Order: sequence, then structure tokens, then C-alpha cells
Amino acid sequence: MTTETSSISEWEAAYQRFETPEQEVAKFIKRLRQMGADSWPRGAKIVEIFCGRGNGFVALSQLGFTNLEGVDLSADLLSKYQGPAKTYVRDCRQLPFEDGSRDILIVQGGLHHLPTLPSDLEQTLNEVKRVLKPGGQFMVVEPWLTPFLRAVHFASERKLVRAISKKFDALHTMIVNEQRTYDQWLSQPDAIVKLLDERFAREQFRAAWGKLMYLGRRGR
Ligand SMILES: C[S@@+](CC[C@H](N)C(=O)[O-])C[C@H]1O[C@@H](n2cnc3c(N)ncnc32)[C@H](O)[C@@H]1O
Repeated sequence: MTTETSSISEWEAAYQRFETPEQEVAKFIKRLRQMGADSWPRGAKIVEIFCGRGNGFVALSQLGFTNLEGVDLSADLLSKYQGPAKTYVRDCRQLPFEDGSRDILIVQGGLHHLPTLPSDLEQTLNEVKRVLKPGGQFMVVEPWLTPFLRAVHFASERKLVRAISKKFDALHTMIVNEQRTYDQWLSQPDAIVKLLDERFAREQFRAAWGKLMYLGRRGR
């Protein structure tokens, strides 16, 4: 097993320990509602990119959405999803969809895994814009270096905290395994926001509790 493979599986194991599927689904439903999902048409064509083990689809299904697709690099994580969404094992820097063909694209905790910023982010955002219908929406939830996240980092770096809390322990393992791309992402907030705003008309923007929550619309 290469070092890279071993670190990926360690990351996947920690990701699965971090929270239960039920906790993750409840978190996703709350976020979707905050971003206005209650007003989205239930038949909207929705793609979740970097969809991982697919709990985003479970949340969307529970809210009544029926036309769901997802893209992720990990066949292992995708295989954990059993449901009606159609999934593709692909790199999100090249999406397997026609131009102007989908209503809503969503990413939750995926962009900060891109290897090289800003070029990979530019490429991925160009793909999102290409695939969205004119007037389609893009929802982003990603880590953001707010005071809360700094405090979480401080705590998770403490051995004692990790010994007491399985959640902090899993979080620490995830961060260590994705350290390079995570740090790269957190260190470039202005460039990231600029790339988003250059491609989408901003409808919502919140940076709080360690998360960026962004909703933008493709021009017509
Ligand atoms: C933190 S997980 C988030 C998964 C999912 N959004 C969730 O919240 O459950 C990040 C995901 O990004 C995937 N990933 C990383 N780089 C990718 C790429 N270039 N294209 C597609 N998926 C990628 C990983 O396999 C992983 O499932």
C-alpha cells in the first residue's frame, strides 16, 4: 500500500467515525433549509459534487427532491450509498454532464480537497457554471477560518482533548491527513470568494462557526 493510499483510507475511516449518518443527514437538512431549499422545485435536477458516502442525497430525498445525481472520486465511499440518486465515480474537475443541463449544484466539504489552488478551483467552478442551466444555483458549504474554527483547531491539537472526545480525535485525524489542501484552502479566502463572485451572482454569503455558506446564481 502506498503512503498516499494509506493516508486516504485513514482519512476515510476518520470521516466515517466523525459523525453518524443520522447526525450528518440532520446537519445537511438544516443547511439546505438555511440556503432556501424549501422554495426549490421538488423536481429540480440537482447534482451534489464531492458527494462522498451520499448522505446529502438522503437529506435531499427527505426534503422531497427526486431528481438527484452525484459525483465523487471514491468508489468506496459512493458504494456506501444505497438509494435512487445516480452516482458517478469521476473527478469533479471534469463533470460528466451536458452544458446547461442541471438546475442546482451543491458542494459540501469537497472544494478544500482540491490539490492545487487557485487553478483546480477555477477549473471546478468553470465546470459547475458550464453544467448549470442559465439562472441555475450553486450552493457551497466549506470550512472557513473563523474564530470558532481557530478554537476547534486549538482544542483538537491537544492530546488530552482527543483522548476524551472521539469526535475531536476523528477531526484531528482528518485534518492531519488532508493538511496540505486544508491549509491551502483556509489561507486563501479572498481569492476563493473572488473566483466565486466572478462566476456567480451572489445570493447568500455567511462565514460563521467555521463554515462558509455561499449561494450563487449563474447569469441568464
Ligand atoms: C469531506 S468529503 C465530503 C463528502 C460529502 N460532501 C459529505 O459531506 O458527506 C470530501 C469528498 O471529496 C472527494 N473528492 C476529493 N477530491 C475529489 C475530486 N477531485 N473529484 C471528486 N471527488 C473528490 C472525496 O472522495 C470525499 O468523498
